[in-house]
Amino acid sequence: MAEAQHCFSIDIRLAIGCPLVSHSAGESLMTTNLKGLVLSGGRGTRLRPLTHTAAKQLVPVANRPILFHVLDNLKNAGVTDVGIVISPETGNAIKETVGDGSSWGMSIEYITQSEPLGLAHAVKVAQPYLGSDSFVMYLGDNLIGSGIRNYREKFEAAAAPASILLKEVDNPSNFGIAEIDQHKRVIRLVEKPKEPKSNLALVGIYFFTSAIHKAISKISPSWRGELEITDAIQMLLNDGAEVLSDQVESWWLDTGKKDDLLTANTVVLDEWVKRQIDGEIDSKSHVTGRVRLGKGSRVVNSTVRGPVVIGDNVFVENSFVGPFTSIGAGCRIVSSVLEHCVLLENARIDHVDRLEDSLIGKNSAVVKEQKNHQAYRLMIGDDSEVLL
Ligand code: G1P
Repeated sequence: MAEAQHCFSIDIRLAIGCPLVSHSAGESLMTTNLKGLVLSGGRGTRLRPLTHTAAKQLVPVANRPILFHVLDNLKNAGVTDVGIVISPETGNAIKETVGDGSSWGMSIEYITQSEPLGLAHAVKVAQPYLGSDSFVMYLGDNLIGSGIRNYREKFEAAAAPASILLKEVDNPSNFGIAEIDQHKRVIRLVEKPKEPKSNLALVGIYFFTSAIHKAISKISPSWRGELEITDAIQMLLNDGAEVLSDQVESWWLDTGKKDDLLTANTVVLDEWVKRQIDGEIDSKSHVTGRVRLGKGSRVVNSTVRGPVVIGDNVFVENSFVGPFTSIGAGCRIVSSVLEHCVLLENARIDHVDRLEDSLIGKNSAVVKEQKNHQAYRLMIGDDSEVLL
């Protein structure tokens, strides 16, 4: 590897994303390469109707597919070989959107999981790709507000077969839950417990050595008919292995539902958006705060109050666009008030008095026939037309 010549210490190697090179018992050098495994299959039932036509991992947060944020985070942690597990239904859309990984300087391979039979099943399907390499498994609909490089370094420095990330949650019955001892060692894991013994949820980012494959071969489907990764990690514990844990200090969002997605949009806009105006704003408009206005977009006689992201070729006229709104390319907003909304490409909002906390699919139109000062909260799939 050409890059290896420039790699001097472990820290620098990780910082520039080079593979770790260590001495084996013999004379030869052994290269270990942490692969990435991104799970982008599943049916996304909790984001229907949007996910009837699109993959949930492609739903945008701050106008970029969630999956792009995931790949950014892997790239920043020095992971360059990534397998993406896709489903037959939405796999092609993911392949077309992400491509071969060259935009991230990564090499991406696609692995089809013919049915959504669980996270551990996805690892099983990916085993030929993973071989005997260690890997970081990242759920394609999870977003965290920090990098994962530190967690990678800790995992690689330790000898444990698994390292998990945990975060306190208010609704532990909706997640995999970990019990830990006073030394933060994991004692027990339960998937979606009815009577949770802790409020520490498993974040959808896991580090494994190849030992996980044997553990997966020993588990059976859960009550929901899935091979649970939580059960596979519990199997490692049962076999006497140590499982490391770290608590995520930044925010963590699992974007599986509309409100979670709107929250993710709010958090990402709040933390990551800087003001950048590439479109036109007429003299009667007020565009204040951190607003990104794409090329070819026009704001006419309107107020836009950041943080807001507006894609390319968007037309906004006689309207108010309030904070925490993301508007995809090609949208058209006329005589309407929007706040805390996500609009996918080419959506049209026409004479709507007030649209808030809403998620509007691609090429959809929301049109109001008579003004009555009512506020609407909508979740509309792609290619729909709603007359209010
Ligand atoms: C999955 C895991 C669960 C984990 C969650 C994180 O849940 O099974 O342990 O806490 O992801 O997003 P699912 O999304 O399949 O309900």
